Order: sequence, then C-alpha cells, then structure tokens
Amino acid sequence: MTLKSLGLITVAAICLAAAVVPALVAGQPGRASPIYGVTVPEGYRQWQMIGVAEEAEPLNELRAVLGNATAIDAYRTKQLPFPDGTVLVKLAWKRVQSTEFEPASVPSAATTVQVMVKDANKYAATGGWGFGRFVNGEPVDEAQHQTCFACHQARVSGHDYVFTRYAP
Ligand code: HEC
Repeated sequence: MTLKSLGLITVAAICLAAAVVPALVAGQPGRASPIYGVTVPEGYRQWQMIGVAEEAEPLNELRAVLGNATAIDAYRTKQLPFPDGTVLVKLAWKRVQSTEFEPASVPSAATTVQVMVKDANKYAATGGWGFGRFVNGEPVDEAQHQTCFACHQARVSGHDYVFTRYAP
C-alpha cells in the first residue's frame, strides 16, 4: 500500500466518522412518556407559534405554545375537535428581569417541554389526547403524568381540552 492510498483511506475514514457520529446522536429516539408513550417531536422548535402565557409565583415562568401544520390549520379554520395528528408543544422558561431593560421580562433557563398528541382512538380514555412532560429531554415520572388530563378536562372540556387560543 502506498503512502498516498493510506492517506486517502485515513481521510475517507475521518469523513465517514464525521458524517455518521452526528447522525447517530441526532437520530437517537427520545424516551417516551409513561402511560401515553409520547415523545418530543423532531423539529418542533421550528413550528409556528399559537400563543404565549405567563405564570406568576411560585413558578415564575414564561411559556410559548407551538403547533405542527395540522394544529395550525385546525386553529386557522376553527376546527373542533382537533383532528388526529395534531401535536401541541408547550415550552416553558424561568421568567427573569431583563438586565438590559428593567421593565422587560425575558426567558432564562428552560424548565419543561410538554407535548399533547391527538389520536382519538389510541387515547380515547383521555379525550383523544396523549400527554408528555419532559425535563432536559427526559420524561418525568408516571405520577406527574396522571395529573395532565384531569386539569385540562376540568377547565377546558369545551375547547377539546386545549387551553391555548390562537393569539390574535
Ligand atoms: C393544574 C392544571 C394543569 C395540569 C395538571 C397540566 N396542565 Fe397543561 N396546561 C395548563 C394550562 C393553564 C395551560 C395553558 C398555558 C399556560 O397557561 O401555561 C396548559 C397548556 C398545555 C399545553 C399546550 C396546549 C394547551 O392546552 O393550551 C400542553 C401541551 C400541556 N399543557 C401539556 C400538559 C402535560 C403533558 C401535563 C401533565 C404532565 C399537563 N399539561 C398538566 C394547565 C395544566
């Protein structure tokens, strides 16, 4: 084997590793939530915004609710109940005062990412919604997942168990 071909093999091996390693990391399926088997949807951070919310002490959070194309379409056409395939993601951050402009509140550390997936058959027992709550990409325990539907059902059964309205 010549020095040149050895060099080529080395370059090829490095290129292959550079291509394969990130693909493996990115392709790792996230762990699913207990009870519902819901995962953090891929690419959700690029989804469109539906609305925002803020919660006072003690949580002190800023939130944003995003939706996939099916969700956005359902909101725009005022479709209720939401169709199968609707996915809603609620992001939350600790709310802090801006250091650059005191009257403003801005997001700091991320706290939770929460997901609702509509599948009327699969999740018939919970209004057609599957729930997932994730901290640092990992699902929280089963006890926390037992609380999801109860609160959504008690407050917003008239809006297909979804709180967030399309922000004007
Ligand atoms: C005590 C009440 C309560 C519980 C329990 C609760 N939620 Fe919610 N959820 C809300 C409220 C209120 C909103 C509206 C946005 C906001 O104010 O943060 C919301 C919004 C959401 C949204 C955005 C869609 C919508 O309905 O507006 C998702 C997704 C979500 N919750 C997931 C979950 C998951 C997953 C759990 C359980 C791990 C859960 N929620 C438990 C009150 C609750």
